[in-house]
Amino acid sequence: MGELDFSGRRVLVTGGSGDIGRALCVAFGSRGARVAMTYFSDHEGKRATEVAMAEAGAEAPVVIRCNLRDKSASAEVAEATLEAFGGVDFFFSNAASGVLRPAMELTSRHWDWTMDVNARSFLALTQALAPTMGPGGRIMALTSTGSVRAIEHYAAVGASKAALESLVRHLAMELGPRGITVNAISPGVVDTKALIHFPQRAQLLEVAAMRTPNGRITTPEDVAAVAVLLASPLAAMIQGQTIAVDGGYSILA
Ligand SMILES: NC(=O)c1ccc[n+]([C@@H]2O[C@H](COP(=O)([O-])OP(=O)(O)OC[C@H]3O[C@@H](n4cnc5c(N)ncnc54)[C@H](OP(=O)(O)O)[C@@H]3O)[C@@H](O)[C@H]2O)c1
Repeated sequence: MGELDFSGRRVLVTGGSGDIGRALCVAFGSRGARVAMTYFSDHEGKRATEVAMAEAGAEAPVVIRCNLRDKSASAEVAEATLEAFGGVDFFFSNAASGVLRPAMELTSRHWDWTMDVNARSFLALTQALAPTMGPGGRIMALTSTGSVRAIEHYAAVGASKAALESLVRHLAMELGPRGITVNAISPGVVDTKALIHFPQRAQLLEVAAMRTPNGRITTPEDVAAVAVLLASPLAAMIQGQTIAVDGGYSILA
């Protein structure tokens, strides 16, 4: 596998119990990496990831339970990861949550929850983990088009993703000189459990399937494949970018 062989690499994936997180754990674990994953409440999802990794021939993951809303959680996740691996090579900030409400109905509690889980944890974990990375280190944050577009009920999450993308650019500038790249991946609509909470789920899926130039919606595996590419030495000069993985959906007027 050459450049795509990650034997000996140490990876942290937040939100490993979710569908995209699972695909990331499988993609890196099956390429020889040692994987630590976090989860919050979905025991079945966590178990499904362990099973999928075993079936793909990956080493069993280190599993860390956390609520990234808590101020102390990121430090605890970093500590558990470093205790297991001594350092990390790749960090994926994939976990996300958020209150889906019209902007006019958002409370400061809704705002804090969404920003803390989606943006603050990314910064705190990067601050804790990047010092352990050598040249070739990779940091990737999962974002969405809601960062730059208006989507019904998505104001808080969209704002948190915009913050995340700005952090990606600033961290890229600061960590680039050390040979570490920091990028964001922006998937199109992926049919995961996250969509269950969207009032307009069926319509989202239907429109995405119909309008995507590539003729189908994006899968978790499509997203993980691009993460593999970005993690490889082949992508050493992709720095501070937000990469859309959406079959061309976001280029349409
Ligand atoms: N699905 C899409 O269409 C889509 C599109 C664009 C971007 N994305 C982005 O891709 C990423 C993964 O999305 P997904 O669709 O795979 O989501 P998902 O299936 O809902 O998974 C979300 C993950 O985040 C974890 N999580 C949620 N709240 C948490 C908290 N308070 N503390 C710690 N972990 C928490 C969940 O843990 P538990 O399940 O264990 O509680 C789960 O592992 C997210 O950043 C999302 O914004 C998704």
